[in-house]
Amino acid sequence: MINPDTDRVLITGAAGAIGSALRTHLRDRYRHLRLTDIRPIADLAPNEEAVMADIGDRAALSRMMDGVDALVHMTGAPPDPDLETLFRVNVRGLFDVFETARLAGITRIVYASSNHAFGCYPITERVTPQHPPRPDSHYGAFKVMGEALLRTYHERFGISSVSLRIGTFRPLPIDQRSLATWLSPRDIAHLVDVSLRHPDPGALVVNGYSANTRIKTADPGWDFLRYHPSDNAEDHIDMLRAQGVDVDGPWEWPEHGGSFVHAPPPRIG
Ligand SMILES: NC(=O)c1ccc[n+]([C@@H]2O[C@H](COP(=O)([O-])OP(=O)(O)OC[C@H]3O[C@@H](n4cnc5c(N)ncnc54)[C@H](O)[C@@H]3O)[C@@H](O)[C@H]2O)c1
Repeated sequence: MINPDTDRVLITGAAGAIGSALRTHLRDRYRHLRLTDIRPIADLAPNEEAVMADIGDRAALSRMMDGVDALVHMTGAPPDPDLETLFRVNVRGLFDVFETARLAGITRIVYASSNHAFGCYPITERVTPQHPPRPDSHYGAFKVMGEALLRTYHERFGISSVSLRIGTFRPLPIDQRSLATWLSPRDIAHLVDVSLRHPDPGALVVNGYSANTRIKTADPGWDFLRYHPSDNAEDHIDMLRAQGVDVDGPWEWPEHGGSFVHAPPPRIG
C-alpha cells in the first residue's frame, strides 16, 4: 500500500498524454512525483522531479529508481511503430523497467496494459479480465506479456501490481467505438490513485474505462479496487452527432479490438 504523504512514486512516459493527465490530477495529492520520459517534461511543480532518459538506458533507470516506492509505467511506443521499435520499447524496455524496479525494491507497480489484450473476442461477448487473453496484435500480445511478468513478480517476489487494460484515453470520446471504451483524464487518475493506495491488489488486471452507458465489458475488479469512475461518454453524444459521427447506427466493429483486428500485418524495420 502506497502512502501518498510519505512515499515516492515514479511515473514513466510522463510527457505523454496519459502521463500529463496523471500529473495534473495527482500532483496535489502525492508528496513527491519523480517523472521520466525521453522527451522534455514541462512546467514542473515544486514536488515534481524530472529525469530525461531512454528506457533502454538501464543505468539511468537504476539511478532514477533509487528511493522510489511505487512505479507507474506509462511509457509506450509511438503510434504506428515498426515492429522493431515496438519490440524495443514495449518488450525490451518493459523488461528493463520491471527488472530494475524489482532490483530497486519497489513494492507496487501500476502498468498501462490495453484493451487490445482481449481484442479478438466478439463484441457481443461481455469480456472480463478473468477470460483468457485473446490479443488482436503484436501490440496486444506484448501488453499481455507485461501482465504475465507482473503475475510472476507477485508469486515469486511479493511485488503487488495493477495492470490497467486501458480503452480509449482522450480528453473526450472521438468516435462510435469510444462511446464504449472511453477513459477520461479524471478517471485514469482516479484509477491509478486507487491502484497505488489499495492495501493488497495481488497481481490484479482491470479494465480501464469510464462509466460509459454503452460499455461492452464487465469487471468485478472495479469494486474490489474501489474504482468508481465519474465520467460517461454518453454525456458527449451531441458533440459527436454534430461532428457527423454515426452514433445511432449498428455497431461498427465486430470485435472488441476495433480496427486493430483488421489491420495489415506489421512491418519489421
Ligand atoms: N491512449 C490510449 O488510448 C491508450 C490505450 C491503451 C493503452 N495505452 C497505453 O498507455 C500508455 C500511455 O499512453 P499515451 O496515450 O500516454 O501514449 P503517449 O505516446 O502519449 O505517451 C508515451 C510516452 O512514452 C515516451 N517514450 C516512448 N519511447 C520512449 C523511450 N524509448 N524512452 C523513454 N520514453 C519513451 C514518449 O515520449 C511518450 O511521452 C502506453 O503504454 C500505451 O500503450 C494507451
